[in-house]
Amino acid sequence: MVVVKLILEITDLAIEVSGKEILSDIDLYIGKGETHVLLGPNGSGKSTLFMAILGFPKYKVKAGEIIFKGENITNYSTTERVKMGIGVSFQNPPAIRGVKLQDLLKIEHGETDEELSPEMMDLVTKLKFDDRFIDRDVNLGFSGGEVKRSEILQLLAQKPDFIMFDEPDSGVDIENVELLAEEINTLLDKEKKPGMREKSGLLITHLGYILNFVNADTAHVLMDGKIACSGNPNEILEDIRKEGFKGCVECCNPIH
Ligand SMILES: Nc1ncnc2c1ncn2[C@@H]1O[C@H](COP(=O)(O)OP(=O)(O)OP(=O)(O)O)[C@@H](O)[C@H]1O
Ligand SMILES: [Mg+2]
Repeated sequence: MVVVKLILEITDLAIEVSGKEILSDIDLYIGKGETHVLLGPNGSGKSTLFMAILGFPKYKVKAGEIIFKGENITNYSTTERVKMGIGVSFQNPPAIRGVKLQDLLKIEHGETDEELSPEMMDLVTKLKFDDRFIDRDVNLGFSGGEVKRSEILQLLAQKPDFIMFDEPDSGVDIENVELLAEEINTLLDKEKKPGMREKSGLLITHLGYILNFVNADTAHVLMDGKIACSGNPNEILEDIRKEGFKGCVECCNPIH
């Protein structure tokens, strides 16, 4: 029997935002080296789950717990969680006026020199940016695609152990989806055999196109703040395309 070590264990989680319960009864177990996909209609609570895992104070835990690397992090600050190895590419990250992208990259990569290291400059070029671009304020006036590439570039600098991707493919052209998928595969250790991977991920996608390039182990469907179905990503996506979210959940054979 193969025993999978869990990196993230969420049990019975309920989350309230501004006095309104958004998520309830969430059970989610992600093994070390695994990539899970989170699907669900607009407003079902996908981004809320990410924010709760990241520990943003606005997202109040009303029940349940979050265990990361065997440690109960339910009451930890966002900074502590990031230090433990949680990373995220946001759906709509804010612009940070006065902070240059290269300065953020230096902090994320632990660099103190004035010039960005050659290693980081290689990644900057790979993500189709240049010296002038990284001198701009973070996300200020960035195009939709540039925002998404910048989010992945920051993760490459940070190298987290568990990475959440909130719609990394939305608003991105076909060629750039392939580029981002390649980097997501690097971030998630996909070049290694499944049992050998150190990095794990949770990825939100609406259209599933990115899953043509990034292999996922399990998918979960979030409906009205609850996980309504879990199973094989390709089968679930096919059901959603044919039957819609409601039809998919009605005919679901839960795996746990
Ligand atoms: N600060 C808030 N106050 C009240 N309701 C909120 C707040 N933040 C989020 N919500 C609500 O929580 C619900 C879930 O939002 P969330 O952003 O998690 O959905 P989502 O599944 O990520 O949707 P999408 O696919 O559109 O990104 C929505 O109805 C949203 O309006
Ligand atoms: Mg969202």
